[in-house]
Amino acid sequence: MHVESEILSRTGGRAIAEVSFDSDAIAARVAELGREITDHYPNGDLLVLGLLKGSFIFVSDLVRAIFRPHQVDFLVAASYGSGTSSSGNVRLLYDPETAIAGRHILLVEDIVDSGNTINRLVRLLRARGPASLEICALLHKRIAPDLALEPRFVGFDAPPKFLVGYGLDHAEDFRHLPFIASLKA
Ligand code: PRP
Repeated sequence: MHVESEILSRTGGRAIAEVSFDSDAIAARVAELGREITDHYPNGDLLVLGLLKGSFIFVSDLVRAIFRPHQVDFLVAASYGSGTSSSGNVRLLYDPETAIAGRHILLVEDIVDSGNTINRLVRLLRARGPASLEICALLHKRIAPDLALEPRFVGFDAPPKFLVGYGLDHAEDFRHLPFIASLKA
């Protein structure tokens, strides 16, 4: 199938402006991130904590690229609703039962935009006494003024556009796209 028509069939005819990161570029970078994370944690109990819903595809790929024992759990937070900018009100919709205290915690985000989500979750997780807390973000817009914790592992610097695909949505659409793209204005 022609690439354009394949994209249109995936999006139901809604046009995207530009593919920012294709699936090959994402796969190559995720493999590198897996190696960086494997090397960073020579020992200790590691919990990979994925932030849903946006990180669901990234976490699935990332954990298979980490070559050391670890466990996986998820948090569910939301702040965007159906708009294209953060509401600033980060709601925690699911909080895991998994113990945090004394373990290395790697919080996995799909994208750091305003930083509101990270700032809220870092406060919450630090209060639970982890052995260490780091963030892995697939995309970082680098516009957040005061992040409570700068991500140690970053996939790509993101362009200043509204991005969808590979887990990222607009009003819950486009999460299933295998690439990351910007939407037509
Ligand atoms: C999006 C995205 C990040 C967060 C980043 O989540 O998945 O978690 O916003 O934005 P911020 O840095 O401005 O806080 P959203 O609230 O849309 O929920 P979702 O993960 O279910 O898509």
